[in-house]
Amino acid sequence: MSAVRTAVVTGAARGIGAGIAAKFARSGWHVVLADLSPEVVETASAIAAETGAATTGVVSDVSSPDGAAAILAAVTEIGDFRALVNNAGITRDAMIKKMTPEAFTATNRVNLGGPIRLNAALAEHLADGGTIVNISSKSSQGNVGQFNYALSKAGLLGYTRALAIELAPRIRVNAISPGFIATEMTDAIPDELRNNILARIPLARPGQPSEIADVALWLCSEASSYVTGQVLGVCGGRTYAP
Ligand code: NAI
Repeated sequence: MSAVRTAVVTGAARGIGAGIAAKFARSGWHVVLADLSPEVVETASAIAAETGAATTGVVSDVSSPDGAAAILAAVTEIGDFRALVNNAGITRDAMIKKMTPEAFTATNRVNLGGPIRLNAALAEHLADGGTIVNISSKSSQGNVGQFNYALSKAGLLGYTRALAIELAPRIRVNAISPGFIATEMTDAIPDELRNNILARIPLARPGQPSEIADVALWLCSEASSYVTGQVLGVCGGRTYAP
């Protein structure tokens, strides 16, 4: 095994993805940051400057064949590909009666279709013992105004468990189900709803992207070598809280 391993993190221009990419880089991984937004190139450079690790920014849409091909080209060139973190995701919230077909299909195309497409394109290129982490959501348990998002993220859990069985024993596949994490996605939540959510978190604060990153890094390390097909709630204790 070479000293520097390669990880792909999608949706890495900002938020949780950027936090995961920075954590892997600090641990000595060569990180391929993929994102729809061209800002990913700047994020990749900033992480490289901060950590001294090699990074590669790839502008790509995870829900398109071209996007998957661009990521595959990057890992093929860099080599020693060992981890894929499917983090890119979107919300298009609306109550059930007002949900447009566009909002329904867009969330599923990106949140569920993205990981399915990337895993299909990339899993066979992961080295033996490689890992996949799919980022789901606490909303997979159901949430008002988010049936499209809940559906996509719940689908991702069934998909994770099925893929873990299919790819075993060569590749481990797990999911993280974050609760309320401080990012631009949650900044967009109206104050009243935000305060309501915060009041129901047993650990009494939002999570930070770095706290999701710690768990992602653990799931991609030898320390979790007997863990596959699992969902870890990283939500400040909200999983079974009212
Ligand atoms: P964010 O909105 O801050 O960042 C998401 C990133 O994904 C953006 O950089 C965006 O450009 C990128 N992206 C969107 N569509 C893409 C596509 N088709 N191809 C490539 N990149 C794409 O979101 P945040 O908060 O960092 O969330 C990251 C993941 O964590 C998402 O999957 C989200 O559903 C999930 N999550 C977030 C929670 C939170 O409280 N922030 C809670 C639970 C889950």
